[in-house]
Amino acid sequence: MTNAQSEAVVRPARTVRGSVQLPGDKSICHRYAMLAGIADGPSRLENYSTGADCASTLGCMRAMGVSWDRKADGQNVIEVQGRGLALAAPKTSLDCGNSGSTMRMLSGIVAGQSFTGEMIGDESLSRRPMERVIKPLTAMGAKIESQQGKPPLRITGGSLKGIDYKMPVASAQVKSCLLLAALFADGETRVEESIRTRDHGEVALRAFGVQLQRKHMGGGSEVRIRGGQRLRGIDARVPGDLSSAAFFLCAAALFPDSQLTVPNLLMNPTRARLLDILMQMGLRISVTQLEEIHGEMVGSLQVEGGQLKGAIIAGADSAALIDEIPVLAAIAPFTEHGIEVRDARELRIKESDRISAVATNLRKMGAQVDEREDGLKIPGGQSLNGAELESFGDHRIAMAFAVAALKAEGETAIQGAEAAAISYPEFFDKLEDLSTR
Ligand code: S3P
Repeated sequence: MTNAQSEAVVRPARTVRGSVQLPGDKSICHRYAMLAGIADGPSRLENYSTGADCASTLGCMRAMGVSWDRKADGQNVIEVQGRGLALAAPKTSLDCGNSGSTMRMLSGIVAGQSFTGEMIGDESLSRRPMERVIKPLTAMGAKIESQQGKPPLRITGGSLKGIDYKMPVASAQVKSCLLLAALFADGETRVEESIRTRDHGEVALRAFGVQLQRKHMGGGSEVRIRGGQRLRGIDARVPGDLSSAAFFLCAAALFPDSQLTVPNLLMNPTRARLLDILMQMGLRISVTQLEEIHGEMVGSLQVEGGQLKGAIIAGADSAALIDEIPVLAAIAPFTEHGIEVRDARELRIKESDRISAVATNLRKMGAQVDEREDGLKIPGGQSLNGAELESFGDHRIAMAFAVAALKAEGETAIQGAEAAAISYPEFFDKLEDLSTR
């Protein structure tokens, strides 16, 4: 984060009530911005994410000659002039900021270009592993220099060839990276995952007119895609971000008499596991106005609080809930039976070490927490005290603990709260709006 550190003070609330319309889903916005840039003709993206991460993707596309405008109409509309598959050599480094999604997915497009591009990131991103994209992109024929598998990445693209790749880690970013690179490759690329991850890359490619074959295989999937296909621009409204909605859903879950409406929310089945888990835990959720927009399911949620039981999150669920685990863990002390998270080692290499960050903050609030290499066990039936907490420069940690603070005894101060702007700059204002005191 380059901004000055700022503190957010969160006071306890009596309940949570109201309606919240979320900015466009971060995962989808990154992909739409990239695909719109390499499409033939213009795209119009409405409800584009207001977060800094998706702005990083747009910034990188501009650096490679894609022109786009943000319309001043309050609807967060971005109009992108696609320049087709061949982008312009950037005159500066491609600055991915804090965004792992930007670096990992865009590297697939840079690898297909006939120039050398350097991708850089902030301090947090510079610590994150990139071998997961370097290895398969190198196998496709790209030349990539890095700092022992970490950013900056210097990518010399060129004539790629299709590969058959079984992903060793469950990562939708890596899957999308390879599908993007495959567009520039000779022949067919096949990507296999043994645990199914979010499928926005596959869905978005089809929306932009690309043909690909998908098959479910056990708990995983396989995607086949041929190189050389052209993309056509789209006119789309991006569904509200489900991972940002998670903070409000968990806030509502804290109070038996809470009531929340969330219109126009992403309901993609590879992302919606959170809703099942919260319902199993005792939150009442009903969905209306389900529709499909460019292959993505969208609906309106009506949510009512109840008594919160507890949950065990393990195996494929840990991958499906990877971005929502911090907030589920932050409210775990208030559940009846507690929450146990297993098989979530990936959390240690996100924007911060999220296992350690959650354990540290919960302990500062007086909770008992068992921290494990691949997860956490947090007993239920505990109360929390307001405390001085840190965001660890991580947007999801800042927001998760603002939620826990609503039910603590006394005020909580979160240092580095500006990190929320990475995905959701309006978060603290909206949380305040919805909280009844
Ligand atoms: C994302 C995939 C996940 C997630 C990230 C967004 C995506 O990362 O944590 O916030 O848009 O594909 P991994 O692919 O590293 O699991």
